[in-house]
Amino acid sequence: MTTAVILPGPAAFDAWRDIARGLLAAEIRPEDTEWHVAGDTPGLFATAAPPASGPPRHRVPKGFLELAEFAIRHRDPERFMLLYRTLWRVTHGEHELLTVATDPDIARLQAMAKAVRRDAHKMHAFLRFRHVETEAGLRHIAWFEPEHHIERAEAGFFVRRFAGLLWTIVTPRCTVHWNGDRIAFGPGGNRFDVPRDDATEPLWRAYYAAVFNPARMKPGAMLSEMPRKYWRNMPETAEIPRLMREAPRRAAEMIARGATPPNPRPQRGVYLHDQGGDGMDLLDAGRDPKAALKALKRELAGGNDLPDFARRATQMVFGEGPIGAPLFFVGEQPGDEEDLKGRPFVGPAGRLFDRAMGDAEVPRDEAYVTNAVKHFKFTPTGKRRLHQSPDAGDIAYYRPFLLREIGLVAPRLLVALGATALRALTGKSLPVMKTRGTTVDGPEGLPVFATVHPSYLLRLPDQAAQQREYATFVEDLRKAQGLVV
Ligand code: URA
Repeated sequence: MTTAVILPGPAAFDAWRDIARGLLAAEIRPEDTEWHVAGDTPGLFATAAPPASGPPRHRVPKGFLELAEFAIRHRDPERFMLLYRTLWRVTHGEHELLTVATDPDIARLQAMAKAVRRDAHKMHAFLRFRHVETEAGLRHIAWFEPEHHIERAEAGFFVRRFAGLLWTIVTPRCTVHWNGDRIAFGPGGNRFDVPRDDATEPLWRAYYAAVFNPARMKPGAMLSEMPRKYWRNMPETAEIPRLMREAPRRAAEMIARGATPPNPRPQRGVYLHDQGGDGMDLLDAGRDPKAALKALKRELAGGNDLPDFARRATQMVFGEGPIGAPLFFVGEQPGDEEDLKGRPFVGPAGRLFDRAMGDAEVPRDEAYVTNAVKHFKFTPTGKRRLHQSPDAGDIAYYRPFLLREIGLVAPRLLVALGATALRALTGKSLPVMKTRGTTVDGPEGLPVFATVHPSYLLRLPDQAAQQREYATFVEDLRKAQGLVV
């Protein structure tokens, strides 16, 4: 007898898992099941699938559920059956099946999961909101056509990224609404429900034209990365035909202007192994480290793999100070004020830092000041943005950029202000209070002098402790200065 299963939605993973557990417990073979989605086959009734009861009897290999969670979003109508057949096989004598990449079922599931991930990436990158005035205020509306059933799974990404806005994403199968504190899903819509133009359109177009590099134009790669079907929703793509037409002439002009031969010997402190992006810093560090530093800044600001929190920040906050500064100060991350002004250490902690530098007689404008993490990470709470500490992954993301920044400034001493900076500079999690006032080994043999972060002084509860710790901090700054004169 065939057991007919009707799932509540096209990517209803939890329901699929519960039903699959029940079928497995009742030893119902895959070929005796058929799988449907509610509403797809009117008039069909589900056979009561046996409910799963008690603890699971079968051991499911690690990785299967993760694979299944992605693969189930694929549009292939056979996905439910394929998943159940794989589950049956791994629990009936083929426990290692997932590691057999050549098995046709596994290969197919892996390909499905990959396609779903790519689709999600496209949704993150190519979805464009338009502004609409509504009675409830400004609403942002976007039209998007995903290939697979990813709308519900990806809604969280847009909530995290645009938590403070009211927005709606319309797709052919589903509408996702965010009203500032609750997400709601509705039926699919139509492309014409979404307005086409608004004031941000010229901005997107100007941005795209500015970052388009005529010497690197690869139409094939561009089309495979950004298929034409997304173009009509992306204002900047209106610029593509003109930019492509002009590219050969502009590239020829770039060649005619000529490139200066690269400096044959890398300069002291240039991090060959950390070279990334377009290689600007290596080519230019020798003759124009300032330009190379600017290129590094542009590269980081334009990164398309930035952590989610970075996209919620107002802007990137890069380091400031002269090339060749003997002292290179590293803080944690920009705070609220730094995020708004785009400059490091200009808020309350920065003002305290300035005062201490003055008292220690270390001219701030002769030092280089930057942060381990270059975007403000915060939790929105009402109108305030609460500082959130960066984690090890955040520090690791920015570290290659920090090392290249150090390489270009070529300082003599690195000063870690607090634990995050110490970790970013040494790659280790050292205790600040035990290390402060001493130097430890840093990147490429440069010494790292450790001290506390100025915001630690701001958080001290009593005045006596504040005065004592402030004096020790000033003493630390003097010591650091003494190491480079
Ligand atoms: N705290 C930091 O670590 N850096 C800043 O730029 C501001 C506050």
